[in-house]
Amino acid sequence: MLISDDIRYIGVDDHAISLFEGQYSVPNGMSYNSYVILDEKTAVMDTVDKGFTDEWLSKLEDALEGKAPDYLVVHHMEPDHSANIAVFMEKYPHAVVVSSQKAFAMMKNFFGTDYPDRRIAVGENDSLPLGKHTLTFITAPMVHWPEVIMSYDSLDKVLFSADAFGKFGALDAPEEWDPEARRYYYGIVGKFGMPVSGVLKKAAKLDISMICPLHGPVLSDDLSHYMELYSKWAAYEPENEGVLIAYTSVYGNTKKAAVMLKDKLAAKGCDVRIIDLARGDMCYALASAFEYKKLVCASTTYNGGVFPFMREFITDLSEHGYKNRQVFLIENGSWAPTAAGVMKKLFEGCKDIVISDSIVKISSAVSAENEAQIEALAEEISAL
Ligand code: FEO
Repeated sequence: MLISDDIRYIGVDDHAISLFEGQYSVPNGMSYNSYVILDEKTAVMDTVDKGFTDEWLSKLEDALEGKAPDYLVVHHMEPDHSANIAVFMEKYPHAVVVSSQKAFAMMKNFFGTDYPDRRIAVGENDSLPLGKHTLTFITAPMVHWPEVIMSYDSLDKVLFSADAFGKFGALDAPEEWDPEARRYYYGIVGKFGMPVSGVLKKAAKLDISMICPLHGPVLSDDLSHYMELYSKWAAYEPENEGVLIAYTSVYGNTKKAAVMLKDKLAAKGCDVRIIDLARGDMCYALASAFEYKKLVCASTTYNGGVFPFMREFITDLSEHGYKNRQVFLIENGSWAPTAAGVMKKLFEGCKDIVISDSIVKISSAVSAENEAQIEALAEEISAL
């Protein structure tokens, strides 16, 4: 596939994958992107997952048109991109690896060698002339690992962005970019908002007409849309003024309260989404919580604490840097309710979270008094 006159796409689609990074559902598969720049010197940009060695090498051979590659540029050492470094280096004995110093330390761990005689270590603003094209390197630590670099080709104005601007989903399964890029961002990179903001500031100084990430489609139209979303995500700002209701329920009573609240909010014109935490990918819930400004957590008491899926959800939020949001609680408990107290405690790990004092407390089933409390809660939430 042609990306420009000199740049070819040689990535692969993975539809056999069950869970990306061992935890994220990817119903439309995953792409592992790799590119080749053909110039006086030929540069291969990253490899692919180990399950696709033969397919990738075959695409690489086709793209090379009989030339031998001079450089393998490694932007990121996570194995979904780096698994074939050793295979490549063995097949092309004259090629040199170009990567960050930290990446070479990781290569030694993964492959037993850091290619001492066949390597160029690059840092911020270092450049690699290829002929007409010159790659300039941008360090991007913690987007998503510490060794990550991006590179910029000033001729075609292409940013090779590593994991940034990637999304879940194979390339041959077209779908809207935003939802699966958002889920990918918050699941994979979300904890590292500050480093992402730092890299975006560096990228803003470049004249970029195309972004080539390591997952998902090459981005070329309306780049400001993607940049603005990334800036918002990196700053932990909500995209939507509405409400996410996340609930767990054992016999349907807590669910009844959650649905009642959803209906009352919708009737007041609020944008509201409701998620059963036990019956969906936790990453959807995580990304939705970041997307919305307000969050309602409704949970059953369980084992003198909170229901396990709610514990996982709030812990996940905390570990991903959830902040600057308004939170509302609904608890259910038949004899010694503890869920609200535990949820409050779990949110202590998050910065700038305002938890409303208006906690709806259900004793087994939703009472007439609870219904009035839920109406009042809907009023309070919609007024914000
Ligand atoms: Fe797609 Fe952080 O690897």
